[in-house]
Amino acid sequence: QGDPRLKAISEAIRVVPHFPKPGIMFQDITTLLLDPKAFKDTVDIFVDRYRDMGISVVAGVEARGFLFGPSIALAIGAKFVPLRKPRKLPGIGLLPRCAAGEVISESYVLEYGKDCLEMHVGAVQPGERALVIDDLVATGGTLSAAIRLLERAGAHVVECACVVGLREVKGQHGLNGKPLYILVEPR
Ligand code: PRP
Repeated sequence: QGDPRLKAISEAIRVVPHFPKPGIMFQDITTLLLDPKAFKDTVDIFVDRYRDMGISVVAGVEARGFLFGPSIALAIGAKFVPLRKPRKLPGIGLLPRCAAGEVISESYVLEYGKDCLEMHVGAVQPGERALVIDDLVATGGTLSAAIRLLERAGAHVVECACVVGLREVKGQHGLNGKPLYILVEPR
């Protein structure tokens, strides 16, 4: 709060009314990526917050968590772990010789229907300290699934971080009791 960079970050996010459905005010972070100063400030604010928290894992939620997570991970000296939508990660292949990594899944409820996040077993070791990053939190269902995946792997989720979201969402799903850090509220 009071950080002058936040106003420019907020203004760099394009609001698209009625996308992808009537009534939704879509928070489009692609315009933030087009503004190198606002994009760098966004990453820098997260890096300053997380650099001394002993975080060894930055877990990014597909798809837009992938746009912010790797830069933060590199800057704080952590690994980046992609949390992917179903059937994207190579799991156990059809041929035994192709067996890759084992995958664990957590499903979550969306406004209409269900979705699922997957993570490679072994990407995270028990006891590791993890940060979950995404572009936006709405209901918190996606972040909750991400937290469950990391906790199943034995990691300790230090915090979830999003560029945009309603701060009041925090209590809604509870995010399994994990703190939520948000840069700006939706416009
Ligand atoms: C959006 C957003 C978050 C999620 C937040 O992704 O990027 O991941 O919704 O919603 P929630 O807090 O209600 O769970 P979306 O589901 O549109 O997937 P995409 O990034 O693959 O387009």
